[in-house]
Amino acid sequence: MDRYGVFGNPIAHSKSPQIHRLFAEQTGQTLSYEPLLAPLDAFPRFAQAFFEEGLGANVTVPFKEQAFRLADQLTERARRAGAVNTLKNLGDGTLLGDNTDGIGLVRDLLDNAGVALEGKRVLLLGAGGAVRGVLEPLLAQRPAALVIANRTLSKAEQLAGEFAELGSASASAFDQLHGPFDVIINGTSASLGGELPPIADSLICSGTTFCYDMMYSAEPTPFCRWAASLDAQTRDGLGMLVEQASAAFELWRGVRPASAPVLAQLRRQLAG
Ligand code: ATR
Repeated sequence: MDRYGVFGNPIAHSKSPQIHRLFAEQTGQTLSYEPLLAPLDAFPRFAQAFFEEGLGANVTVPFKEQAFRLADQLTERARRAGAVNTLKNLGDGTLLGDNTDGIGLVRDLLDNAGVALEGKRVLLLGAGGAVRGVLEPLLAQRPAALVIANRTLSKAEQLAGEFAELGSASASAFDQLHGPFDVIINGTSASLGGELPPIADSLICSGTTFCYDMMYSAEPTPFCRWAASLDAQTRDGLGMLVEQASAAFELWRGVRPASAPVLAQLRRQLAG
């Protein structure tokens, strides 16, 4: 059986095994996909043992940077991200590292939500690993402006500087932002603690601004609740999760599964 899996710690609650099982059924592919609980202090050894027969794996918290270092070759977007969420066994004893998080976000926005980014004013909240991982594919959409705002301004400035050659990226403190924006993407981990980045209501134009939270939960996230209270359109990151998986599946199997039925099933489960 062709063997795949997802490395993480913890990993028991990962939705990836279910998503990839549904993709395999849908595309008629025969494969196995397992949760792989890697030891915190021995990821490289654990991963290498898996790849003695494993064909590919996803990588989640906290191993994406270690997977980046483990990969023998990197895609350009993974190199820019400094993190790898997808490893592919190239069959000659080497591993290719890719990062499909950014393309997952872009496809969820463009294809599933119908939100174009080209020529738009885009605000990205946060400057951690999650934001770094999506910058290259976001800038490839050629927004008119992409402002990175972060609690720690120096981290936003660092990222904007690194990615400036790919498009119009700039940095700002939360209290120095000038709105409104067409699209606001929350890439901070504030939602995890039930918090909201301290941003002004005036960044939203009622009825037109589209607000996207890269996090998801059964209940709307604090960021989505804030945005909805100002009549913005909102979407959480469940579609991004399915789309990054679909792009990984395509890298491994050469066929891209349809995300819509899988997303609908996950949404029903999350609500249920
Ligand atoms: P991840 O890999 O999820 O991006 P990270 O690298 O630790 O995790 O980054 C977390 C991001 O969320 C950072 O941008 C962080 O801001 P700082 O760089 O100032 O720490 C941001 N963040 C976390 N909690 C926040 C909060 N309550 N309000 C605003 N920003 C927050």
